[in-house]
Amino acid sequence: MAGMLQGKTALITGGGSGIGRATSLLFAREGARVAVADMSEDSAKATVGMINAAGGQAMSILVDVTSAAQVQAMIDTTVAAFGRLDCAYNNAGIAGYQVGASGKRTAEWSEDAFDRMIAVNLKGVWLCMKSELEQMVKQGGGSIVNTASIAGLVGLQTSSAYVASKHGVVGLTKTAALEYAGDNIRVNAVCPGYIETPMTRDTMSRRGAELMAQVPFHRMGKPEEIAEMVCWFCSDRASYVSGSAYNVDGGYMAT
Ligand SMILES: NC(=O)c1ccc[n+]([C@@H]2O[C@H](COP(=O)([O-])OP(=O)(O)OC[C@H]3O[C@@H](n4cnc5c(N)ncnc54)[C@H](O)[C@@H]3O)[C@@H](O)[C@H]2O)c1
Repeated sequence: MAGMLQGKTALITGGGSGIGRATSLLFAREGARVAVADMSEDSAKATVGMINAAGGQAMSILVDVTSAAQVQAMIDTTVAAFGRLDCAYNNAGIAGYQVGASGKRTAEWSEDAFDRMIAVNLKGVWLCMKSELEQMVKQGGGSIVNTASIAGLVGLQTSSAYVASKHGVVGLTKTAALEYAGDNIRVNAVCPGYIETPMTRDTMSRRGAELMAQVPFHRMGKPEEIAEMVCWFCSDRASYVSGSAYNVDGGYMAT
């Protein structure tokens, strides 16, 4: 039986770890050729190794999504290798502790920490979308998915700039969906709840019990559970879906 993404080409940022790795593996299993992009070259190569070992087709790309030139080169490399770009998953991102803002309330964030968070999580997504949209307009269509978060839909204490960046990602998603509907390009966002990845280890070690008490399923999600949503968004089965920000969160947003 043909996979959900049979014959498609895909690019995934942050593909070296967590949600991006799980999505890269699923996309390949569903028949896509996958460009795995990450600022950690070793991690991206490790994901590619897993895909190739399982009989899939993938290549790694080193990228820092905060650099417009590197992002454009990433798209050019993908298109040169695969011929076109059907699915783009803009997923690379960082958490507060990675900019030294762990546990800090809004007024306690440093300007540097705020700027770095916005540069990676918001501007990085926009830079990727910009190059991807240009390519997809040229080739006559495509599907883009951005990783937002439940933090893109509600406030979360001590996550000020992270929350702002993810609300921004939802805004970019909705706007581009409107603007490019006539170009046969669908743009959606996935909003994960608390997912078991290297990103959440720090927070969970400090506040795990408190946070899981707020999740109706009383457990973290697995990266594979996010990958399923992204795969569906990118597949032709979601042909009438654009501009949505869909939460995959164990019921968190229903509380
Ligand atoms: N884990 C969660 O609970 C959770 C919840 C909601 C949203 N998210 C979002 O999901 C996405 C993936 O997170 P994850 O949990 O898999 O984290 P992760 O830390 O496991 O993976 C993130 C990956 O992004 C890469 N990356 C970071 N900065 C980059 C840059 N400037 N350029 C290129 N690559 C870069 C890292 O090298 C890493 O491989 C992020 O956008 C995150 O904000 C995660």
